[in-house]
Amino acid sequence: MEKLNALFKRRGFVYSGSELYGGLANTYDYGPVGTELLRNIKNLWWKHFVQKRDDMVGLDASLISHHKIWEASGHTSSFADALVDCKACKSRIRADHLIEDFISLNKDLDIAHREYHILTQGKVASAFQTEKVEGWDLSELSEFIEVFGVPCQKCKENPGTEWTAVRKFNQLFPIQLGIVEGEQGLAYLRGETAQGMFVDFDNIVNSTRVRLPFGIAQVGKSFRNEITLGNSVFRTIEFEQGEIEYFFNHQKSNWEEIFESWKKYMWEFVTYQLGVKSENLRWREHGDDERSFYSTRTEDMEYSFPFGFKELWGIAYRTDYDLSQHEKHSGKELTIIDPETNEKIKPHVIEPAVGINRLFLMVLADAYHEDGERVVLKLEPRLAPYKVAVFPLLKNKPELIEKARQVYTLLKETVDGIVIWDDRGNIGKRYLAQDEIGTPFCVTVDFSSLEDNTVTVRDRDTAQQQRISIDGLANHIVSSIR
Ligand code: GAP
Repeated sequence: MEKLNALFKRRGFVYSGSELYGGLANTYDYGPVGTELLRNIKNLWWKHFVQKRDDMVGLDASLISHHKIWEASGHTSSFADALVDCKACKSRIRADHLIEDFISLNKDLDIAHREYHILTQGKVASAFQTEKVEGWDLSELSEFIEVFGVPCQKCKENPGTEWTAVRKFNQLFPIQLGIVEGEQGLAYLRGETAQGMFVDFDNIVNSTRVRLPFGIAQVGKSFRNEITLGNSVFRTIEFEQGEIEYFFNHQKSNWEEIFESWKKYMWEFVTYQLGVKSENLRWREHGDDERSFYSTRTEDMEYSFPFGFKELWGIAYRTDYDLSQHEKHSGKELTIIDPETNEKIKPHVIEPAVGINRLFLMVLADAYHEDGERVVLKLEPRLAPYKVAVFPLLKNKPELIEKARQVYTLLKETVDGIVIWDDRGNIGKRYLAQDEIGTPFCVTVDFSSLEDNTVTVRDRDTAQQQRISIDGLANHIVSSIR
């Protein structure tokens, strides 16, 4: 991760949030090239999951929402992390992460000869096997920390860390609107985009011509008061989600088939559209302890990040839980008419939910290559922040500059995406800079260009150069970045 973090800062992908004032934990700013990459990923997601399908519509719901939405969804009561504080250095940490990291560093520990009161031998053995403790309650987490003497990673030299008791900490951000005191002015920054799709379900059914099965998709910011231990933009307090609620009549459609077809679609998006290597991906099904009580099946697509296999994209069969909850809390019926039977249906839902920032981190980690001294980001050309860079061989030769400007203008007009001009330093340094940003092509205008109307086109991945006529240049680039 250190190499990636250094590259992020060096080339303008990601900076720490509020850096000028010493930084603000778990917040990040996307620099010029990071912004382009993030936007390209989002646009591709939208194109693939909304625009290219006949059964999807989009939504852009408010980030600030009524407190009753989050009471109905269960977030105000149960959207909480179990946290524990180190009494020595005062660092606050998620108890599940503390234990999972401890287990992965101590796989061969003797677990048989310990005395458990709340935990069982089987539960501890399973945690050591899966390196997961999701679903454990507060007393189980506390007991593990105590029995195994889990140390604080921040003050390792201080053996026998003393921890506070593990306790719950709600992740929603409450905000107070206007000058109204108390519950009337209480709202929340949304903790997930998903609830918007349920709250606007009736509006969408009444204002469009959707028929089951259909999905509502949304890309946008969500906010969670997360306590984390770095890993760049993997887990932040403000992040973007791309979520789909796919509604269907569970009496007519087979949920397992729908579930499998979405899994296939998600996999294809990651491997084909984003160009990520399939050997770095895997599916993991949630066990009974980990799965939400209303979910019949939940699976995570996991990516092998530099800090281990971690959740990238979840898919869950949420039945009619959310619509039923909102019906109960709002007093409004949330159904759709089946045109064949005229029957009112409360549809069930399958939800693929991804973090756009995690897609971003994955794409960069997967594209990062070292080729001797050269660092190169082998990004899919359709994702690359800059599509092509144009260089005049020398900066002090007006005839070269003029020709290079003509080539630059031609490409600016024809290529969909950023075409960048660079005349600083020598050509080698310019290649190096573009390789680190992942620019697929560098075009150099030299003295031969003035005579035979050709340029050198250098390929990022192979570093091979070829001479191409300026007449065919735009076509060559455009057809390669689709
Ligand atoms: N509506 C279901 C839902 O929100 P989730 O597993 O909490 O489920 C879905 O979130 C996805 O959003 C995750 O798979 C992950 O990619 C992303 N995500 C969740 N919390 C995040 C955070 N704090 N920072 C960045 N991405 C996050």
